[in-house]
Amino acid sequence: MARVINFNAGPSALPLAALERAQRELLDFANSGMSVMEHSHRGREYEAVHDEALSLLRELLQVPATHDILFVQGGATQQFAQVPMNFLGPGGRADHVVTGVWGEKALSEAQVVGKLQGGTARALVDAAPYHTLPETLPQDPGATYVHLTSNETIHGIQFAVQPGSDFPKAAAPLVVDMSSDLLWRPMDVSRFAFIYAGAQKNLGPSGIVVLIAHKDFLATGRKDIPKIFQYRTVAEARSLYNTPPTFAIYLVRNVLAVLKEQGGLAARERENRAKAAAVYDVIDQSQGFYRCPVDPKFRSVMNLVFRLPSEALEDQFVAEAKKAGMVGLKGHRSVGGIRVSLYNAVTLASAQTLASFMRAFIK
Ligand SMILES: Cc1ncc(COP(=O)(O)O)c(C=O)c1O
Repeated sequence: MARVINFNAGPSALPLAALERAQRELLDFANSGMSVMEHSHRGREYEAVHDEALSLLRELLQVPATHDILFVQGGATQQFAQVPMNFLGPGGRADHVVTGVWGEKALSEAQVVGKLQGGTARALVDAAPYHTLPETLPQDPGATYVHLTSNETIHGIQFAVQPGSDFPKAAAPLVVDMSSDLLWRPMDVSRFAFIYAGAQKNLGPSGIVVLIAHKDFLATGRKDIPKIFQYRTVAEARSLYNTPPTFAIYLVRNVLAVLKEQGGLAARERENRAKAAAVYDVIDQSQGFYRCPVDPKFRSVMNLVFRLPSEALEDQFVAEAKKAGMVGLKGHRSVGGIRVSLYNAVTLASAQTLASFMRAFIK
C-alpha cells in the first residue's frame, strides 16, 4: 500500500488510525455481525457512536453547558441559507464580515433569504481583495447577528491566528463559519452565538456539518419555517430527528478519538504551528521565488497560499511534487497559484517533506 502525502483542501487527509479503525470494524461492528452502516440509527450500537461523537466534541473543545452541539446535513453551503432562515426575521439585519469567497457566498444567500423574510443582510466589512483582515469591526448597533468566516480556505487568511490573539469584538451575537479551522486549537466557545463547520477538513468526511450554538440564541429562531430547517428540531432530537449520515458521524467519532489520544487540541495547536512555520519559513527565505500575498499577521496555519514566478513554474511544481508523492497542491481555480492545506491529519513530517521539496525546487 502506497499512501500519498495529501494536501487537499477538502475533502482532505484523515488520520490513518481513524481509517484503519474503520477498516477493522467495517464488516463486523462491535460484534454485531454487521457494519455500522447497516445498523438502525435508533439502535443501541449506533446511538453509542452518536453520543460518543457528541461527547468527544464537547470534551475536546470544552463546550460549555450553555451551548448545544448539533449534527446536520447539507454542507456548510446550506448553512449560508439556513442561518438567516432561522434568525433573520422581519426588520432584522445580518451584518457580514466579507473576507473571501466563502464569506461572499454566505452574504449572498442571506440577502436572498432576507428579501423573502423581510430582513436585510449587508457587508459590514468588505475586505476584498482578501489579503488581510480587519483587526476591529465597526460597532454598529442594531444587527441581529454578525457573521464572519474564521478561515478563508481559498485565500489563506485566518482570524485569531497569532498566539494570544482573539476574534474581533462584535456588536451583536457572533455567527462564525469555522469550516476550515474548527479544532485547529483550543478556543473559548462561550463567546460565539453560533458556529458551523463542514466536517471534511479537520473533523471527518463530507456529508455532515457540526453546529455549536448558544441555547438562548437557538431559542430566538423562527418557528414558521419548515420543521426540518429549524435548528431547535435538531437540538430537541439530539440530532436524531430523521436519519443522520450514520457512517459520516461514525468516522467523525473515529477522528475525534484519535485527536484525544494524541493529546487534544493543545497538542494540535503546537503541531499545526510547527507545520505552518516549516512551509512559511521556506517562502520567507526564498528571496521572492515563493510569494505569499497574505498579510503576515493573518497568514492561515490551515491553508497556505503562494505563487511562483510564473504559471508554468507553478504547473511544474505541482507535477514534480506529485512525482515525489505529494498531491493536492494546486490553488483554488478562482485564484490560481499553490495552496497547501495542513489540517490536523497532515503530519509535521509531511510538512517538512514539502518544505525540503520547496527548497530543492528553487535550485
Ligand atoms: C470556509 C468554508 N465555508 C464553506 C464551505 C462550503 O462547504 P460545503 O462544500 O460543505 O458546502 C467551504 C468549503 O470548502 C469552506 O472552506
